[in-house]
Formats: sequence, structure tokens, C-alpha cells
Amino acid sequence: VATGATRAIALDGPSGSGKSTVARGVARALGWRYVDTGATYRAVTLAVLHAGTDLHDSAAVAAVARRARIELSTDPDKPGTCLDGVDVSAEIRGPAVTAAVSAVSAVAEVRTLLVERQRSFAGTDGAVVEGRDIATVVLPDAAVKVYLDASTAERARRRAGDVDAGVASRASAGPVTGVADDELHAAVAADLARRDAFDAGRAASPLVRADDAVLLDTSAMDADTAIARVLDLARAVGLAVEETEP
Ligand code: DC
Repeated sequence: VATGATRAIALDGPSGSGKSTVARGVARALGWRYVDTGATYRAVTLAVLHAGTDLHDSAAVAAVARRARIELSTDPDKPGTCLDGVDVSAEIRGPAVTAAVSAVSAVAEVRTLLVERQRSFAGTDGAVVEGRDIATVVLPDAAVKVYLDASTAERARRRAGDVDAGVASRASAGPVTGVADDELHAAVAADLARRDAFDAGRAASPLVRADDAVLLDTSAMDADTAIARVLDLARAVGLAVEETEP
């Protein structure tokens, strides 16, 4: 590992690029922690919704973020999120949080607070950290930096099918069929495009590919292939890769 490099793998990219599946698979293979930074923004968003805070009042949103106690399970086999001692893993994936999270994650003070938390969740013994600004802001010294991407159509298809992955079985199954599916697909595609534009356009840490991140396009790649690619990159920089059973 290069001198000064942090024992961490940074995985950035937009929704539906396969980050979660790939990050968990890589963490499992290495016996490392898995850190889902999006979950921390989602947990603060839930706290903001619970408090009835105006999403556009940055100071009030930041005050809620300061009070929120967020815990993450970093076990790649049992990821989970607690807010103020309550397991909110399912609730933070719901439509209310999803609709509001871009606004909350655009508040600079929220980001400063959560980046500190995310670094402590990552620790120093080895972590695979997924998000939007990991390579650029959270862990700029990560030993491996990967930017995962996939075509908008493929990302929307994965989201509509609730398949967040680099993702195999369904990725090769062809287009979704049926009118209801088409409508769902169009709605999901529109929502993805809206969130992407917002996440890329915000002033504080917009989603961008770091100059030194390796681009991995998972549009036509299954999860195992994407995981193997990232493990190859880890080996190439001398991070020990023990082969473990899936
Ligand atoms: O990955 P996700 O869909 O759970 O992310 C939820 C939101 O949080 C998304 O709108 C982008 C934002 N986010 C961010 O701004 N920075 C991160 N490191 C991770 C997520």
C-alpha cells in the first residue's frame, strides 16, 4: 500500500450504479467494515421529518443533525441504521425520506458533521465506504478509489425492480415489460434524474468523479464481476486479499 494511504476502499457513484451490492461484497471478501454513508444522510433526514422542521431552513436542519444520535452496523452481512436508539433501517428507505434526502444532504453543516461520523465508522483497520464524496472529501487518502456508474436506463430499471446492484440475474433479463411496469419505470427514471441533477448540482461536495478514481461501468456487468474487479484493484495496491467463502 502506498505510504500514507488509508486502509480503505472508496466507492462513489449515483443511485442504482450498484454501489451497495458491490461494497458489501468487497467488504465481505476482505473481512472489512462496510460503511453506507447514504444511510447517515437518510437518518438525519428522518430526524428532520420527525421534528417537523422546514427542509429549507438550513440552520434548523443543522440543529436537528447535531442532536441526532446515529449508529451504523458496519457488518456487511447485517447492515443497519439506528437513530436515537431506534432501528430505522427500513424506514430510511421509504418514499418520504427518499424525497427529502437531497435537500438535507445539500446543507453544508450537515455534511461537515456527518463526514466526521463517517470517518469514525470507517476506522483504520479496513473499510469499504460507499457514497458520493468518499474519494474527494471523506477519505481522500483511500488506497483504492472507484467510481461506479451505469446507464440511466439500467439504473432506473434496477431501482424499479428494487434491485440495487451491479446486478446480475436481472441485468441480463432484458427490458421490463407490461404497462404498469412501464409506468413505474418512467416514474423511477424521472425521480432518479431529478435526484442526480440535484446531487451533482449542489454547492457542497457535488457528486463528481475524483481524478484518481477508476471508472467502472456496471451497465452490463453482474455483481460478482464488479466485486472481482474491485478486489483486483485492491490486490494491485498490495492490500492483502484473503479468499473467504461467500
Ligand atoms: O446512496 P443513497 O441513495 O442512500 O443516498 C441518499 C442521499 O444522500 C442521496 O440523495 C445522495 C446523498 N449522499 C451524499 O450526498 N453523500 C454521500 N456520501 C452519500 C449520500
